[in-house]
Amino acid sequence: MLLTFYTCLLWLSCSGLWTVQAEDPNVNVSMRSYHRDLAPSNVDFAFDLYKHLVASAPGKNVFISPVSISMALAMLSLGARGHTRAQLLQGLGFNLTETPEAKIHQGFRKLHHLLSKSDDTLEMIMGNTVFLNRSLELLESFSADTKHYYELDTLATDFQDWARANRQIHEYIKNKTQGKIMDSFLELDSPATLILVNYIFFKGMWAHPFDQGSTREENFYVNETTLVQVPMMFQSREIKYFKDQLLPCQLVQLDYVGNSTVFFVLPNAGEMDAVVTALSRDTIQRWSDSLTSRQVDLYIPKVSISEAYDLGSLLEDMGIADLLTQQANFSGITQESQLKLSKVVHKAMLQLDEQGVQEAAPTGVSLKVESEPLTIHFNRPFIIMIFDEFTWSSLFLVKAMNLT
Ligand SMILES: *[C@@H]1O[C@H](CO)[C@@H](O)[C@H](O)[C@H]1NC(C)=O
Ligand SMILES: *[C@@H]1O[C@H](CO)[C@@H](O)[C@H](O)[C@H]1NC(C)=O
Ligand SMILES: *[C@@H]1O[C@H](CO)[C@@H](O)[C@H](O)[C@H]1NC(C)=O
Ligand SMILES: *[C@@H]1O[C@H](CO)[C@@H](O)[C@H](O)[C@H]1NC(C)=O
Ligand SMILES: *[C@@H]1O[C@H](CO)[C@@H](O)[C@H](O)[C@H]1NC(C)=O
Ligand SMILES: *[C@@H]1O[C@H](CO)[C@@H](O)[C@H](O)[C@H]1NC(C)=O
Ligand SMILES: *[C@@H]1O[C@H](CO)[C@@H](O)[C@H](O)[C@H]1NC(C)=O
Repeated sequence: MLLTFYTCLLWLSCSGLWTVQAEDPNVNVSMRSYHRDLAPSNVDFAFDLYKHLVASAPGKNVFISPVSISMALAMLSLGARGHTRAQLLQGLGFNLTETPEAKIHQGFRKLHHLLSKSDDTLEMIMGNTVFLNRSLELLESFSADTKHYYELDTLATDFQDWARANRQIHEYIKNKTQGKIMDSFLELDSPATLILVNYIFFKGMWAHPFDQGSTREENFYVNETTLVQVPMMFQSREIKYFKDQLLPCQLVQLDYVGNSTVFFVLPNAGEMDAVVTALSRDTIQRWSDSLTSRQVDLYIPKVSISEAYDLGSLLEDMGIADLLTQQANFSGITQESQLKLSKVVHKAMLQLDEQGVQEAAPTGVSLKVESEPLTIHFNRPFIIMIFDEFTWSSLFLVKAMNLT
């Protein structure tokens, strides 16, 4: 048993990071990387969603937590019936012939469990809450299933008094995220029946922290005509680096303590679009294989990024068109036959700062500098990708354009 376990771990750590797993007859199937079963579909969906967003908001920041969006939509499918249900799951990239629904929900349950199991060094709070008009009652099956697989919270809300309901929702999310998410993110003009809020907050501890004393205000070149000031963090050490010859960009990979890893990708000036278009599992795999350690003087902005998205309109042109329309069938949520979702909101927040587990080594004291350090300045639009390496989840995809 113990031996099987080790074999399994070894196999996992050797297998390609982003490619679909090959069936390995030597591995006990019931133990085979159950926590990564959803990864290929989820990562493909992540890039698809990201590209749609980038296309719909030229010149703007884009910031999402794809895995938590996948989770929220899969959860919603538990209350959907007929065409709406299939559309949601297929829109998330699942082939229902290959992956039965039960498998999908079990996969997300495991994923949710693994991702929310906090270790002390990582602040990650993710969850879903349904705010439901007081006059309605959830079907027992929906309550039970969403609780079991997704730990969904539901809250009866008096939508007659929208100002109060709005306050209640923000207070609730603020409480759930321990005060981390406290800005207002909901706008609603029409009367609401049901609002699903999907939220995530993330702040990691660097395996190798930035030097606290070196952070300075510096120029960030938004485009040819616009320049803003940002606090720029600095560290100098051996860092995994790659200058791509196929795509107009260079990148570094930094690790958080624990399972999260970050790719900071710096497209050449004006070449952001070419790099975004090429993002895929294959590209990430190629980058992963190509990164090599070298001495780098690294400058990265210290920022707190926060965005909210109305997923209804977002998913419309991604094949999940029914969500908020007359065609939607959510008869699995309440008895109210004409139930319409009012909104599905994604709210994400990420804090990047200097902190790591230990103090940064004093700047300039490098034990063995074999070559001149390479200087990389993230002082123009760039891409951040944060992955959980254990589950291969795409925790965050960011297109950082204007950092103010
Ligand atoms: C695989 O693992 C499960 C759970 O540990 C065990 O019950 C089963 O007997 C194993 N099967 C084989 C073929 O080793
Ligand atoms: C929703 O789907 C269920 C099951 O397929 C069906 O019985 C019901 O009539 C549908 N409701 C609406 C409003 O389309
Ligand atoms: C789903 O999987 C089945 C079986 O592998 C395959 O025949 C079918 O073409 C797939 N459907 C889609 C839409 O990819
Ligand atoms: C919400 O519930 C109230 C009763 O609490 C009801 O009067 C109202 O019509 C409901 N609104 C919607 C949009 O369902
Ligand atoms: C959050 O909610 C819990 C449980 O309802 C309550 O005990 C706690 O005081 C609240 N915290 C804040 C900061 O509002
Ligand atoms: C540069 O960015 C600013 C601020 O985002 C924007 O107002 C302006 O239109 C942009 N200029 C060009 C040439 O894209
Ligand atoms: C990665 O996550 C798994 C599952 O939560 C955990 O068992 C493991 O210790 C984590 N690895 C590290 C390096 O923290």
